[in-house]
Amino acid sequence: MDYTAAVITVSDKCSTGERVDTSGPAVCDMVKTAGYNVIYTGIVPDEHDLIASELMKCVDEIKADLIITTGGTGFSPRDITPDVTREILDREVPAISQAMLFYSLKITDRAMLSRATAGIRGKSIIINLPGSKKAATENLSAVIGTMEHALQMLAGGGH
Ligand code: MTE
Repeated sequence: MDYTAAVITVSDKCSTGERVDTSGPAVCDMVKTAGYNVIYTGIVPDEHDLIASELMKCVDEIKADLIITTGGTGFSPRDITPDVTREILDREVPAISQAMLFYSLKITDRAMLSRATAGIRGKSIIINLPGSKKAATENLSAVIGTMEHALQMLAGGGH
C-alpha cells in the first residue's frame, strides 16, 4: 500500500508536557501495521485555531491520505475537536463514526460520550478518535481496515 497517514494528538496537557502522550504513538503503531506510511505526527492544545490549522496543514500542504486525531471528542468545555473538524471538512461521513460507536458500545456504554466525527477534505480522509489509548485504539480498530478502499474510491477508483 502506498498511502500516507498523519496522526495529531489534541490535548492541553500533552501539548505542555504535563502528560505523556501514549495515544498518539499507539495510533501510529496501528496505522503502520495496517500498511500506511506515517509522514507526520503533531501535538496541539484544545484550541480552535491551532486544531484547524494543523488539520488543514496535513491535508493541503503535507497531503496525507489519512489524518487521524486523538482527543477532545468528549463533553468537557474544551473538547472541540469534532466541531473544528466539521468546519474544515468538505463532506462529513457520519457512518465512519457510527461504525466506531456500534463497535465501541459492545465494549462500554461510555462510548456514547464521544462526539467524534469523520469525513473528507480534498483527497484526504479525517477521522477523530477519543483521547485515551484504550478508547483510541478500540475505535480505530473498527474502521482502519476499510480505509484503503475508501481512499481508492476517493481517488476516483471504482470497486
Ligand atoms: N470508546 C471505546 N471504545 N472505549 C472507551 O473506553 N471511552 C469513552 C468514549 N469512547 C471509550 C470510548 C469516554 S469515557 C469518553 S469521555 C469519550 O470517549 C470521549 O473521550 P475524549 O474526551 O478523550 O475524546
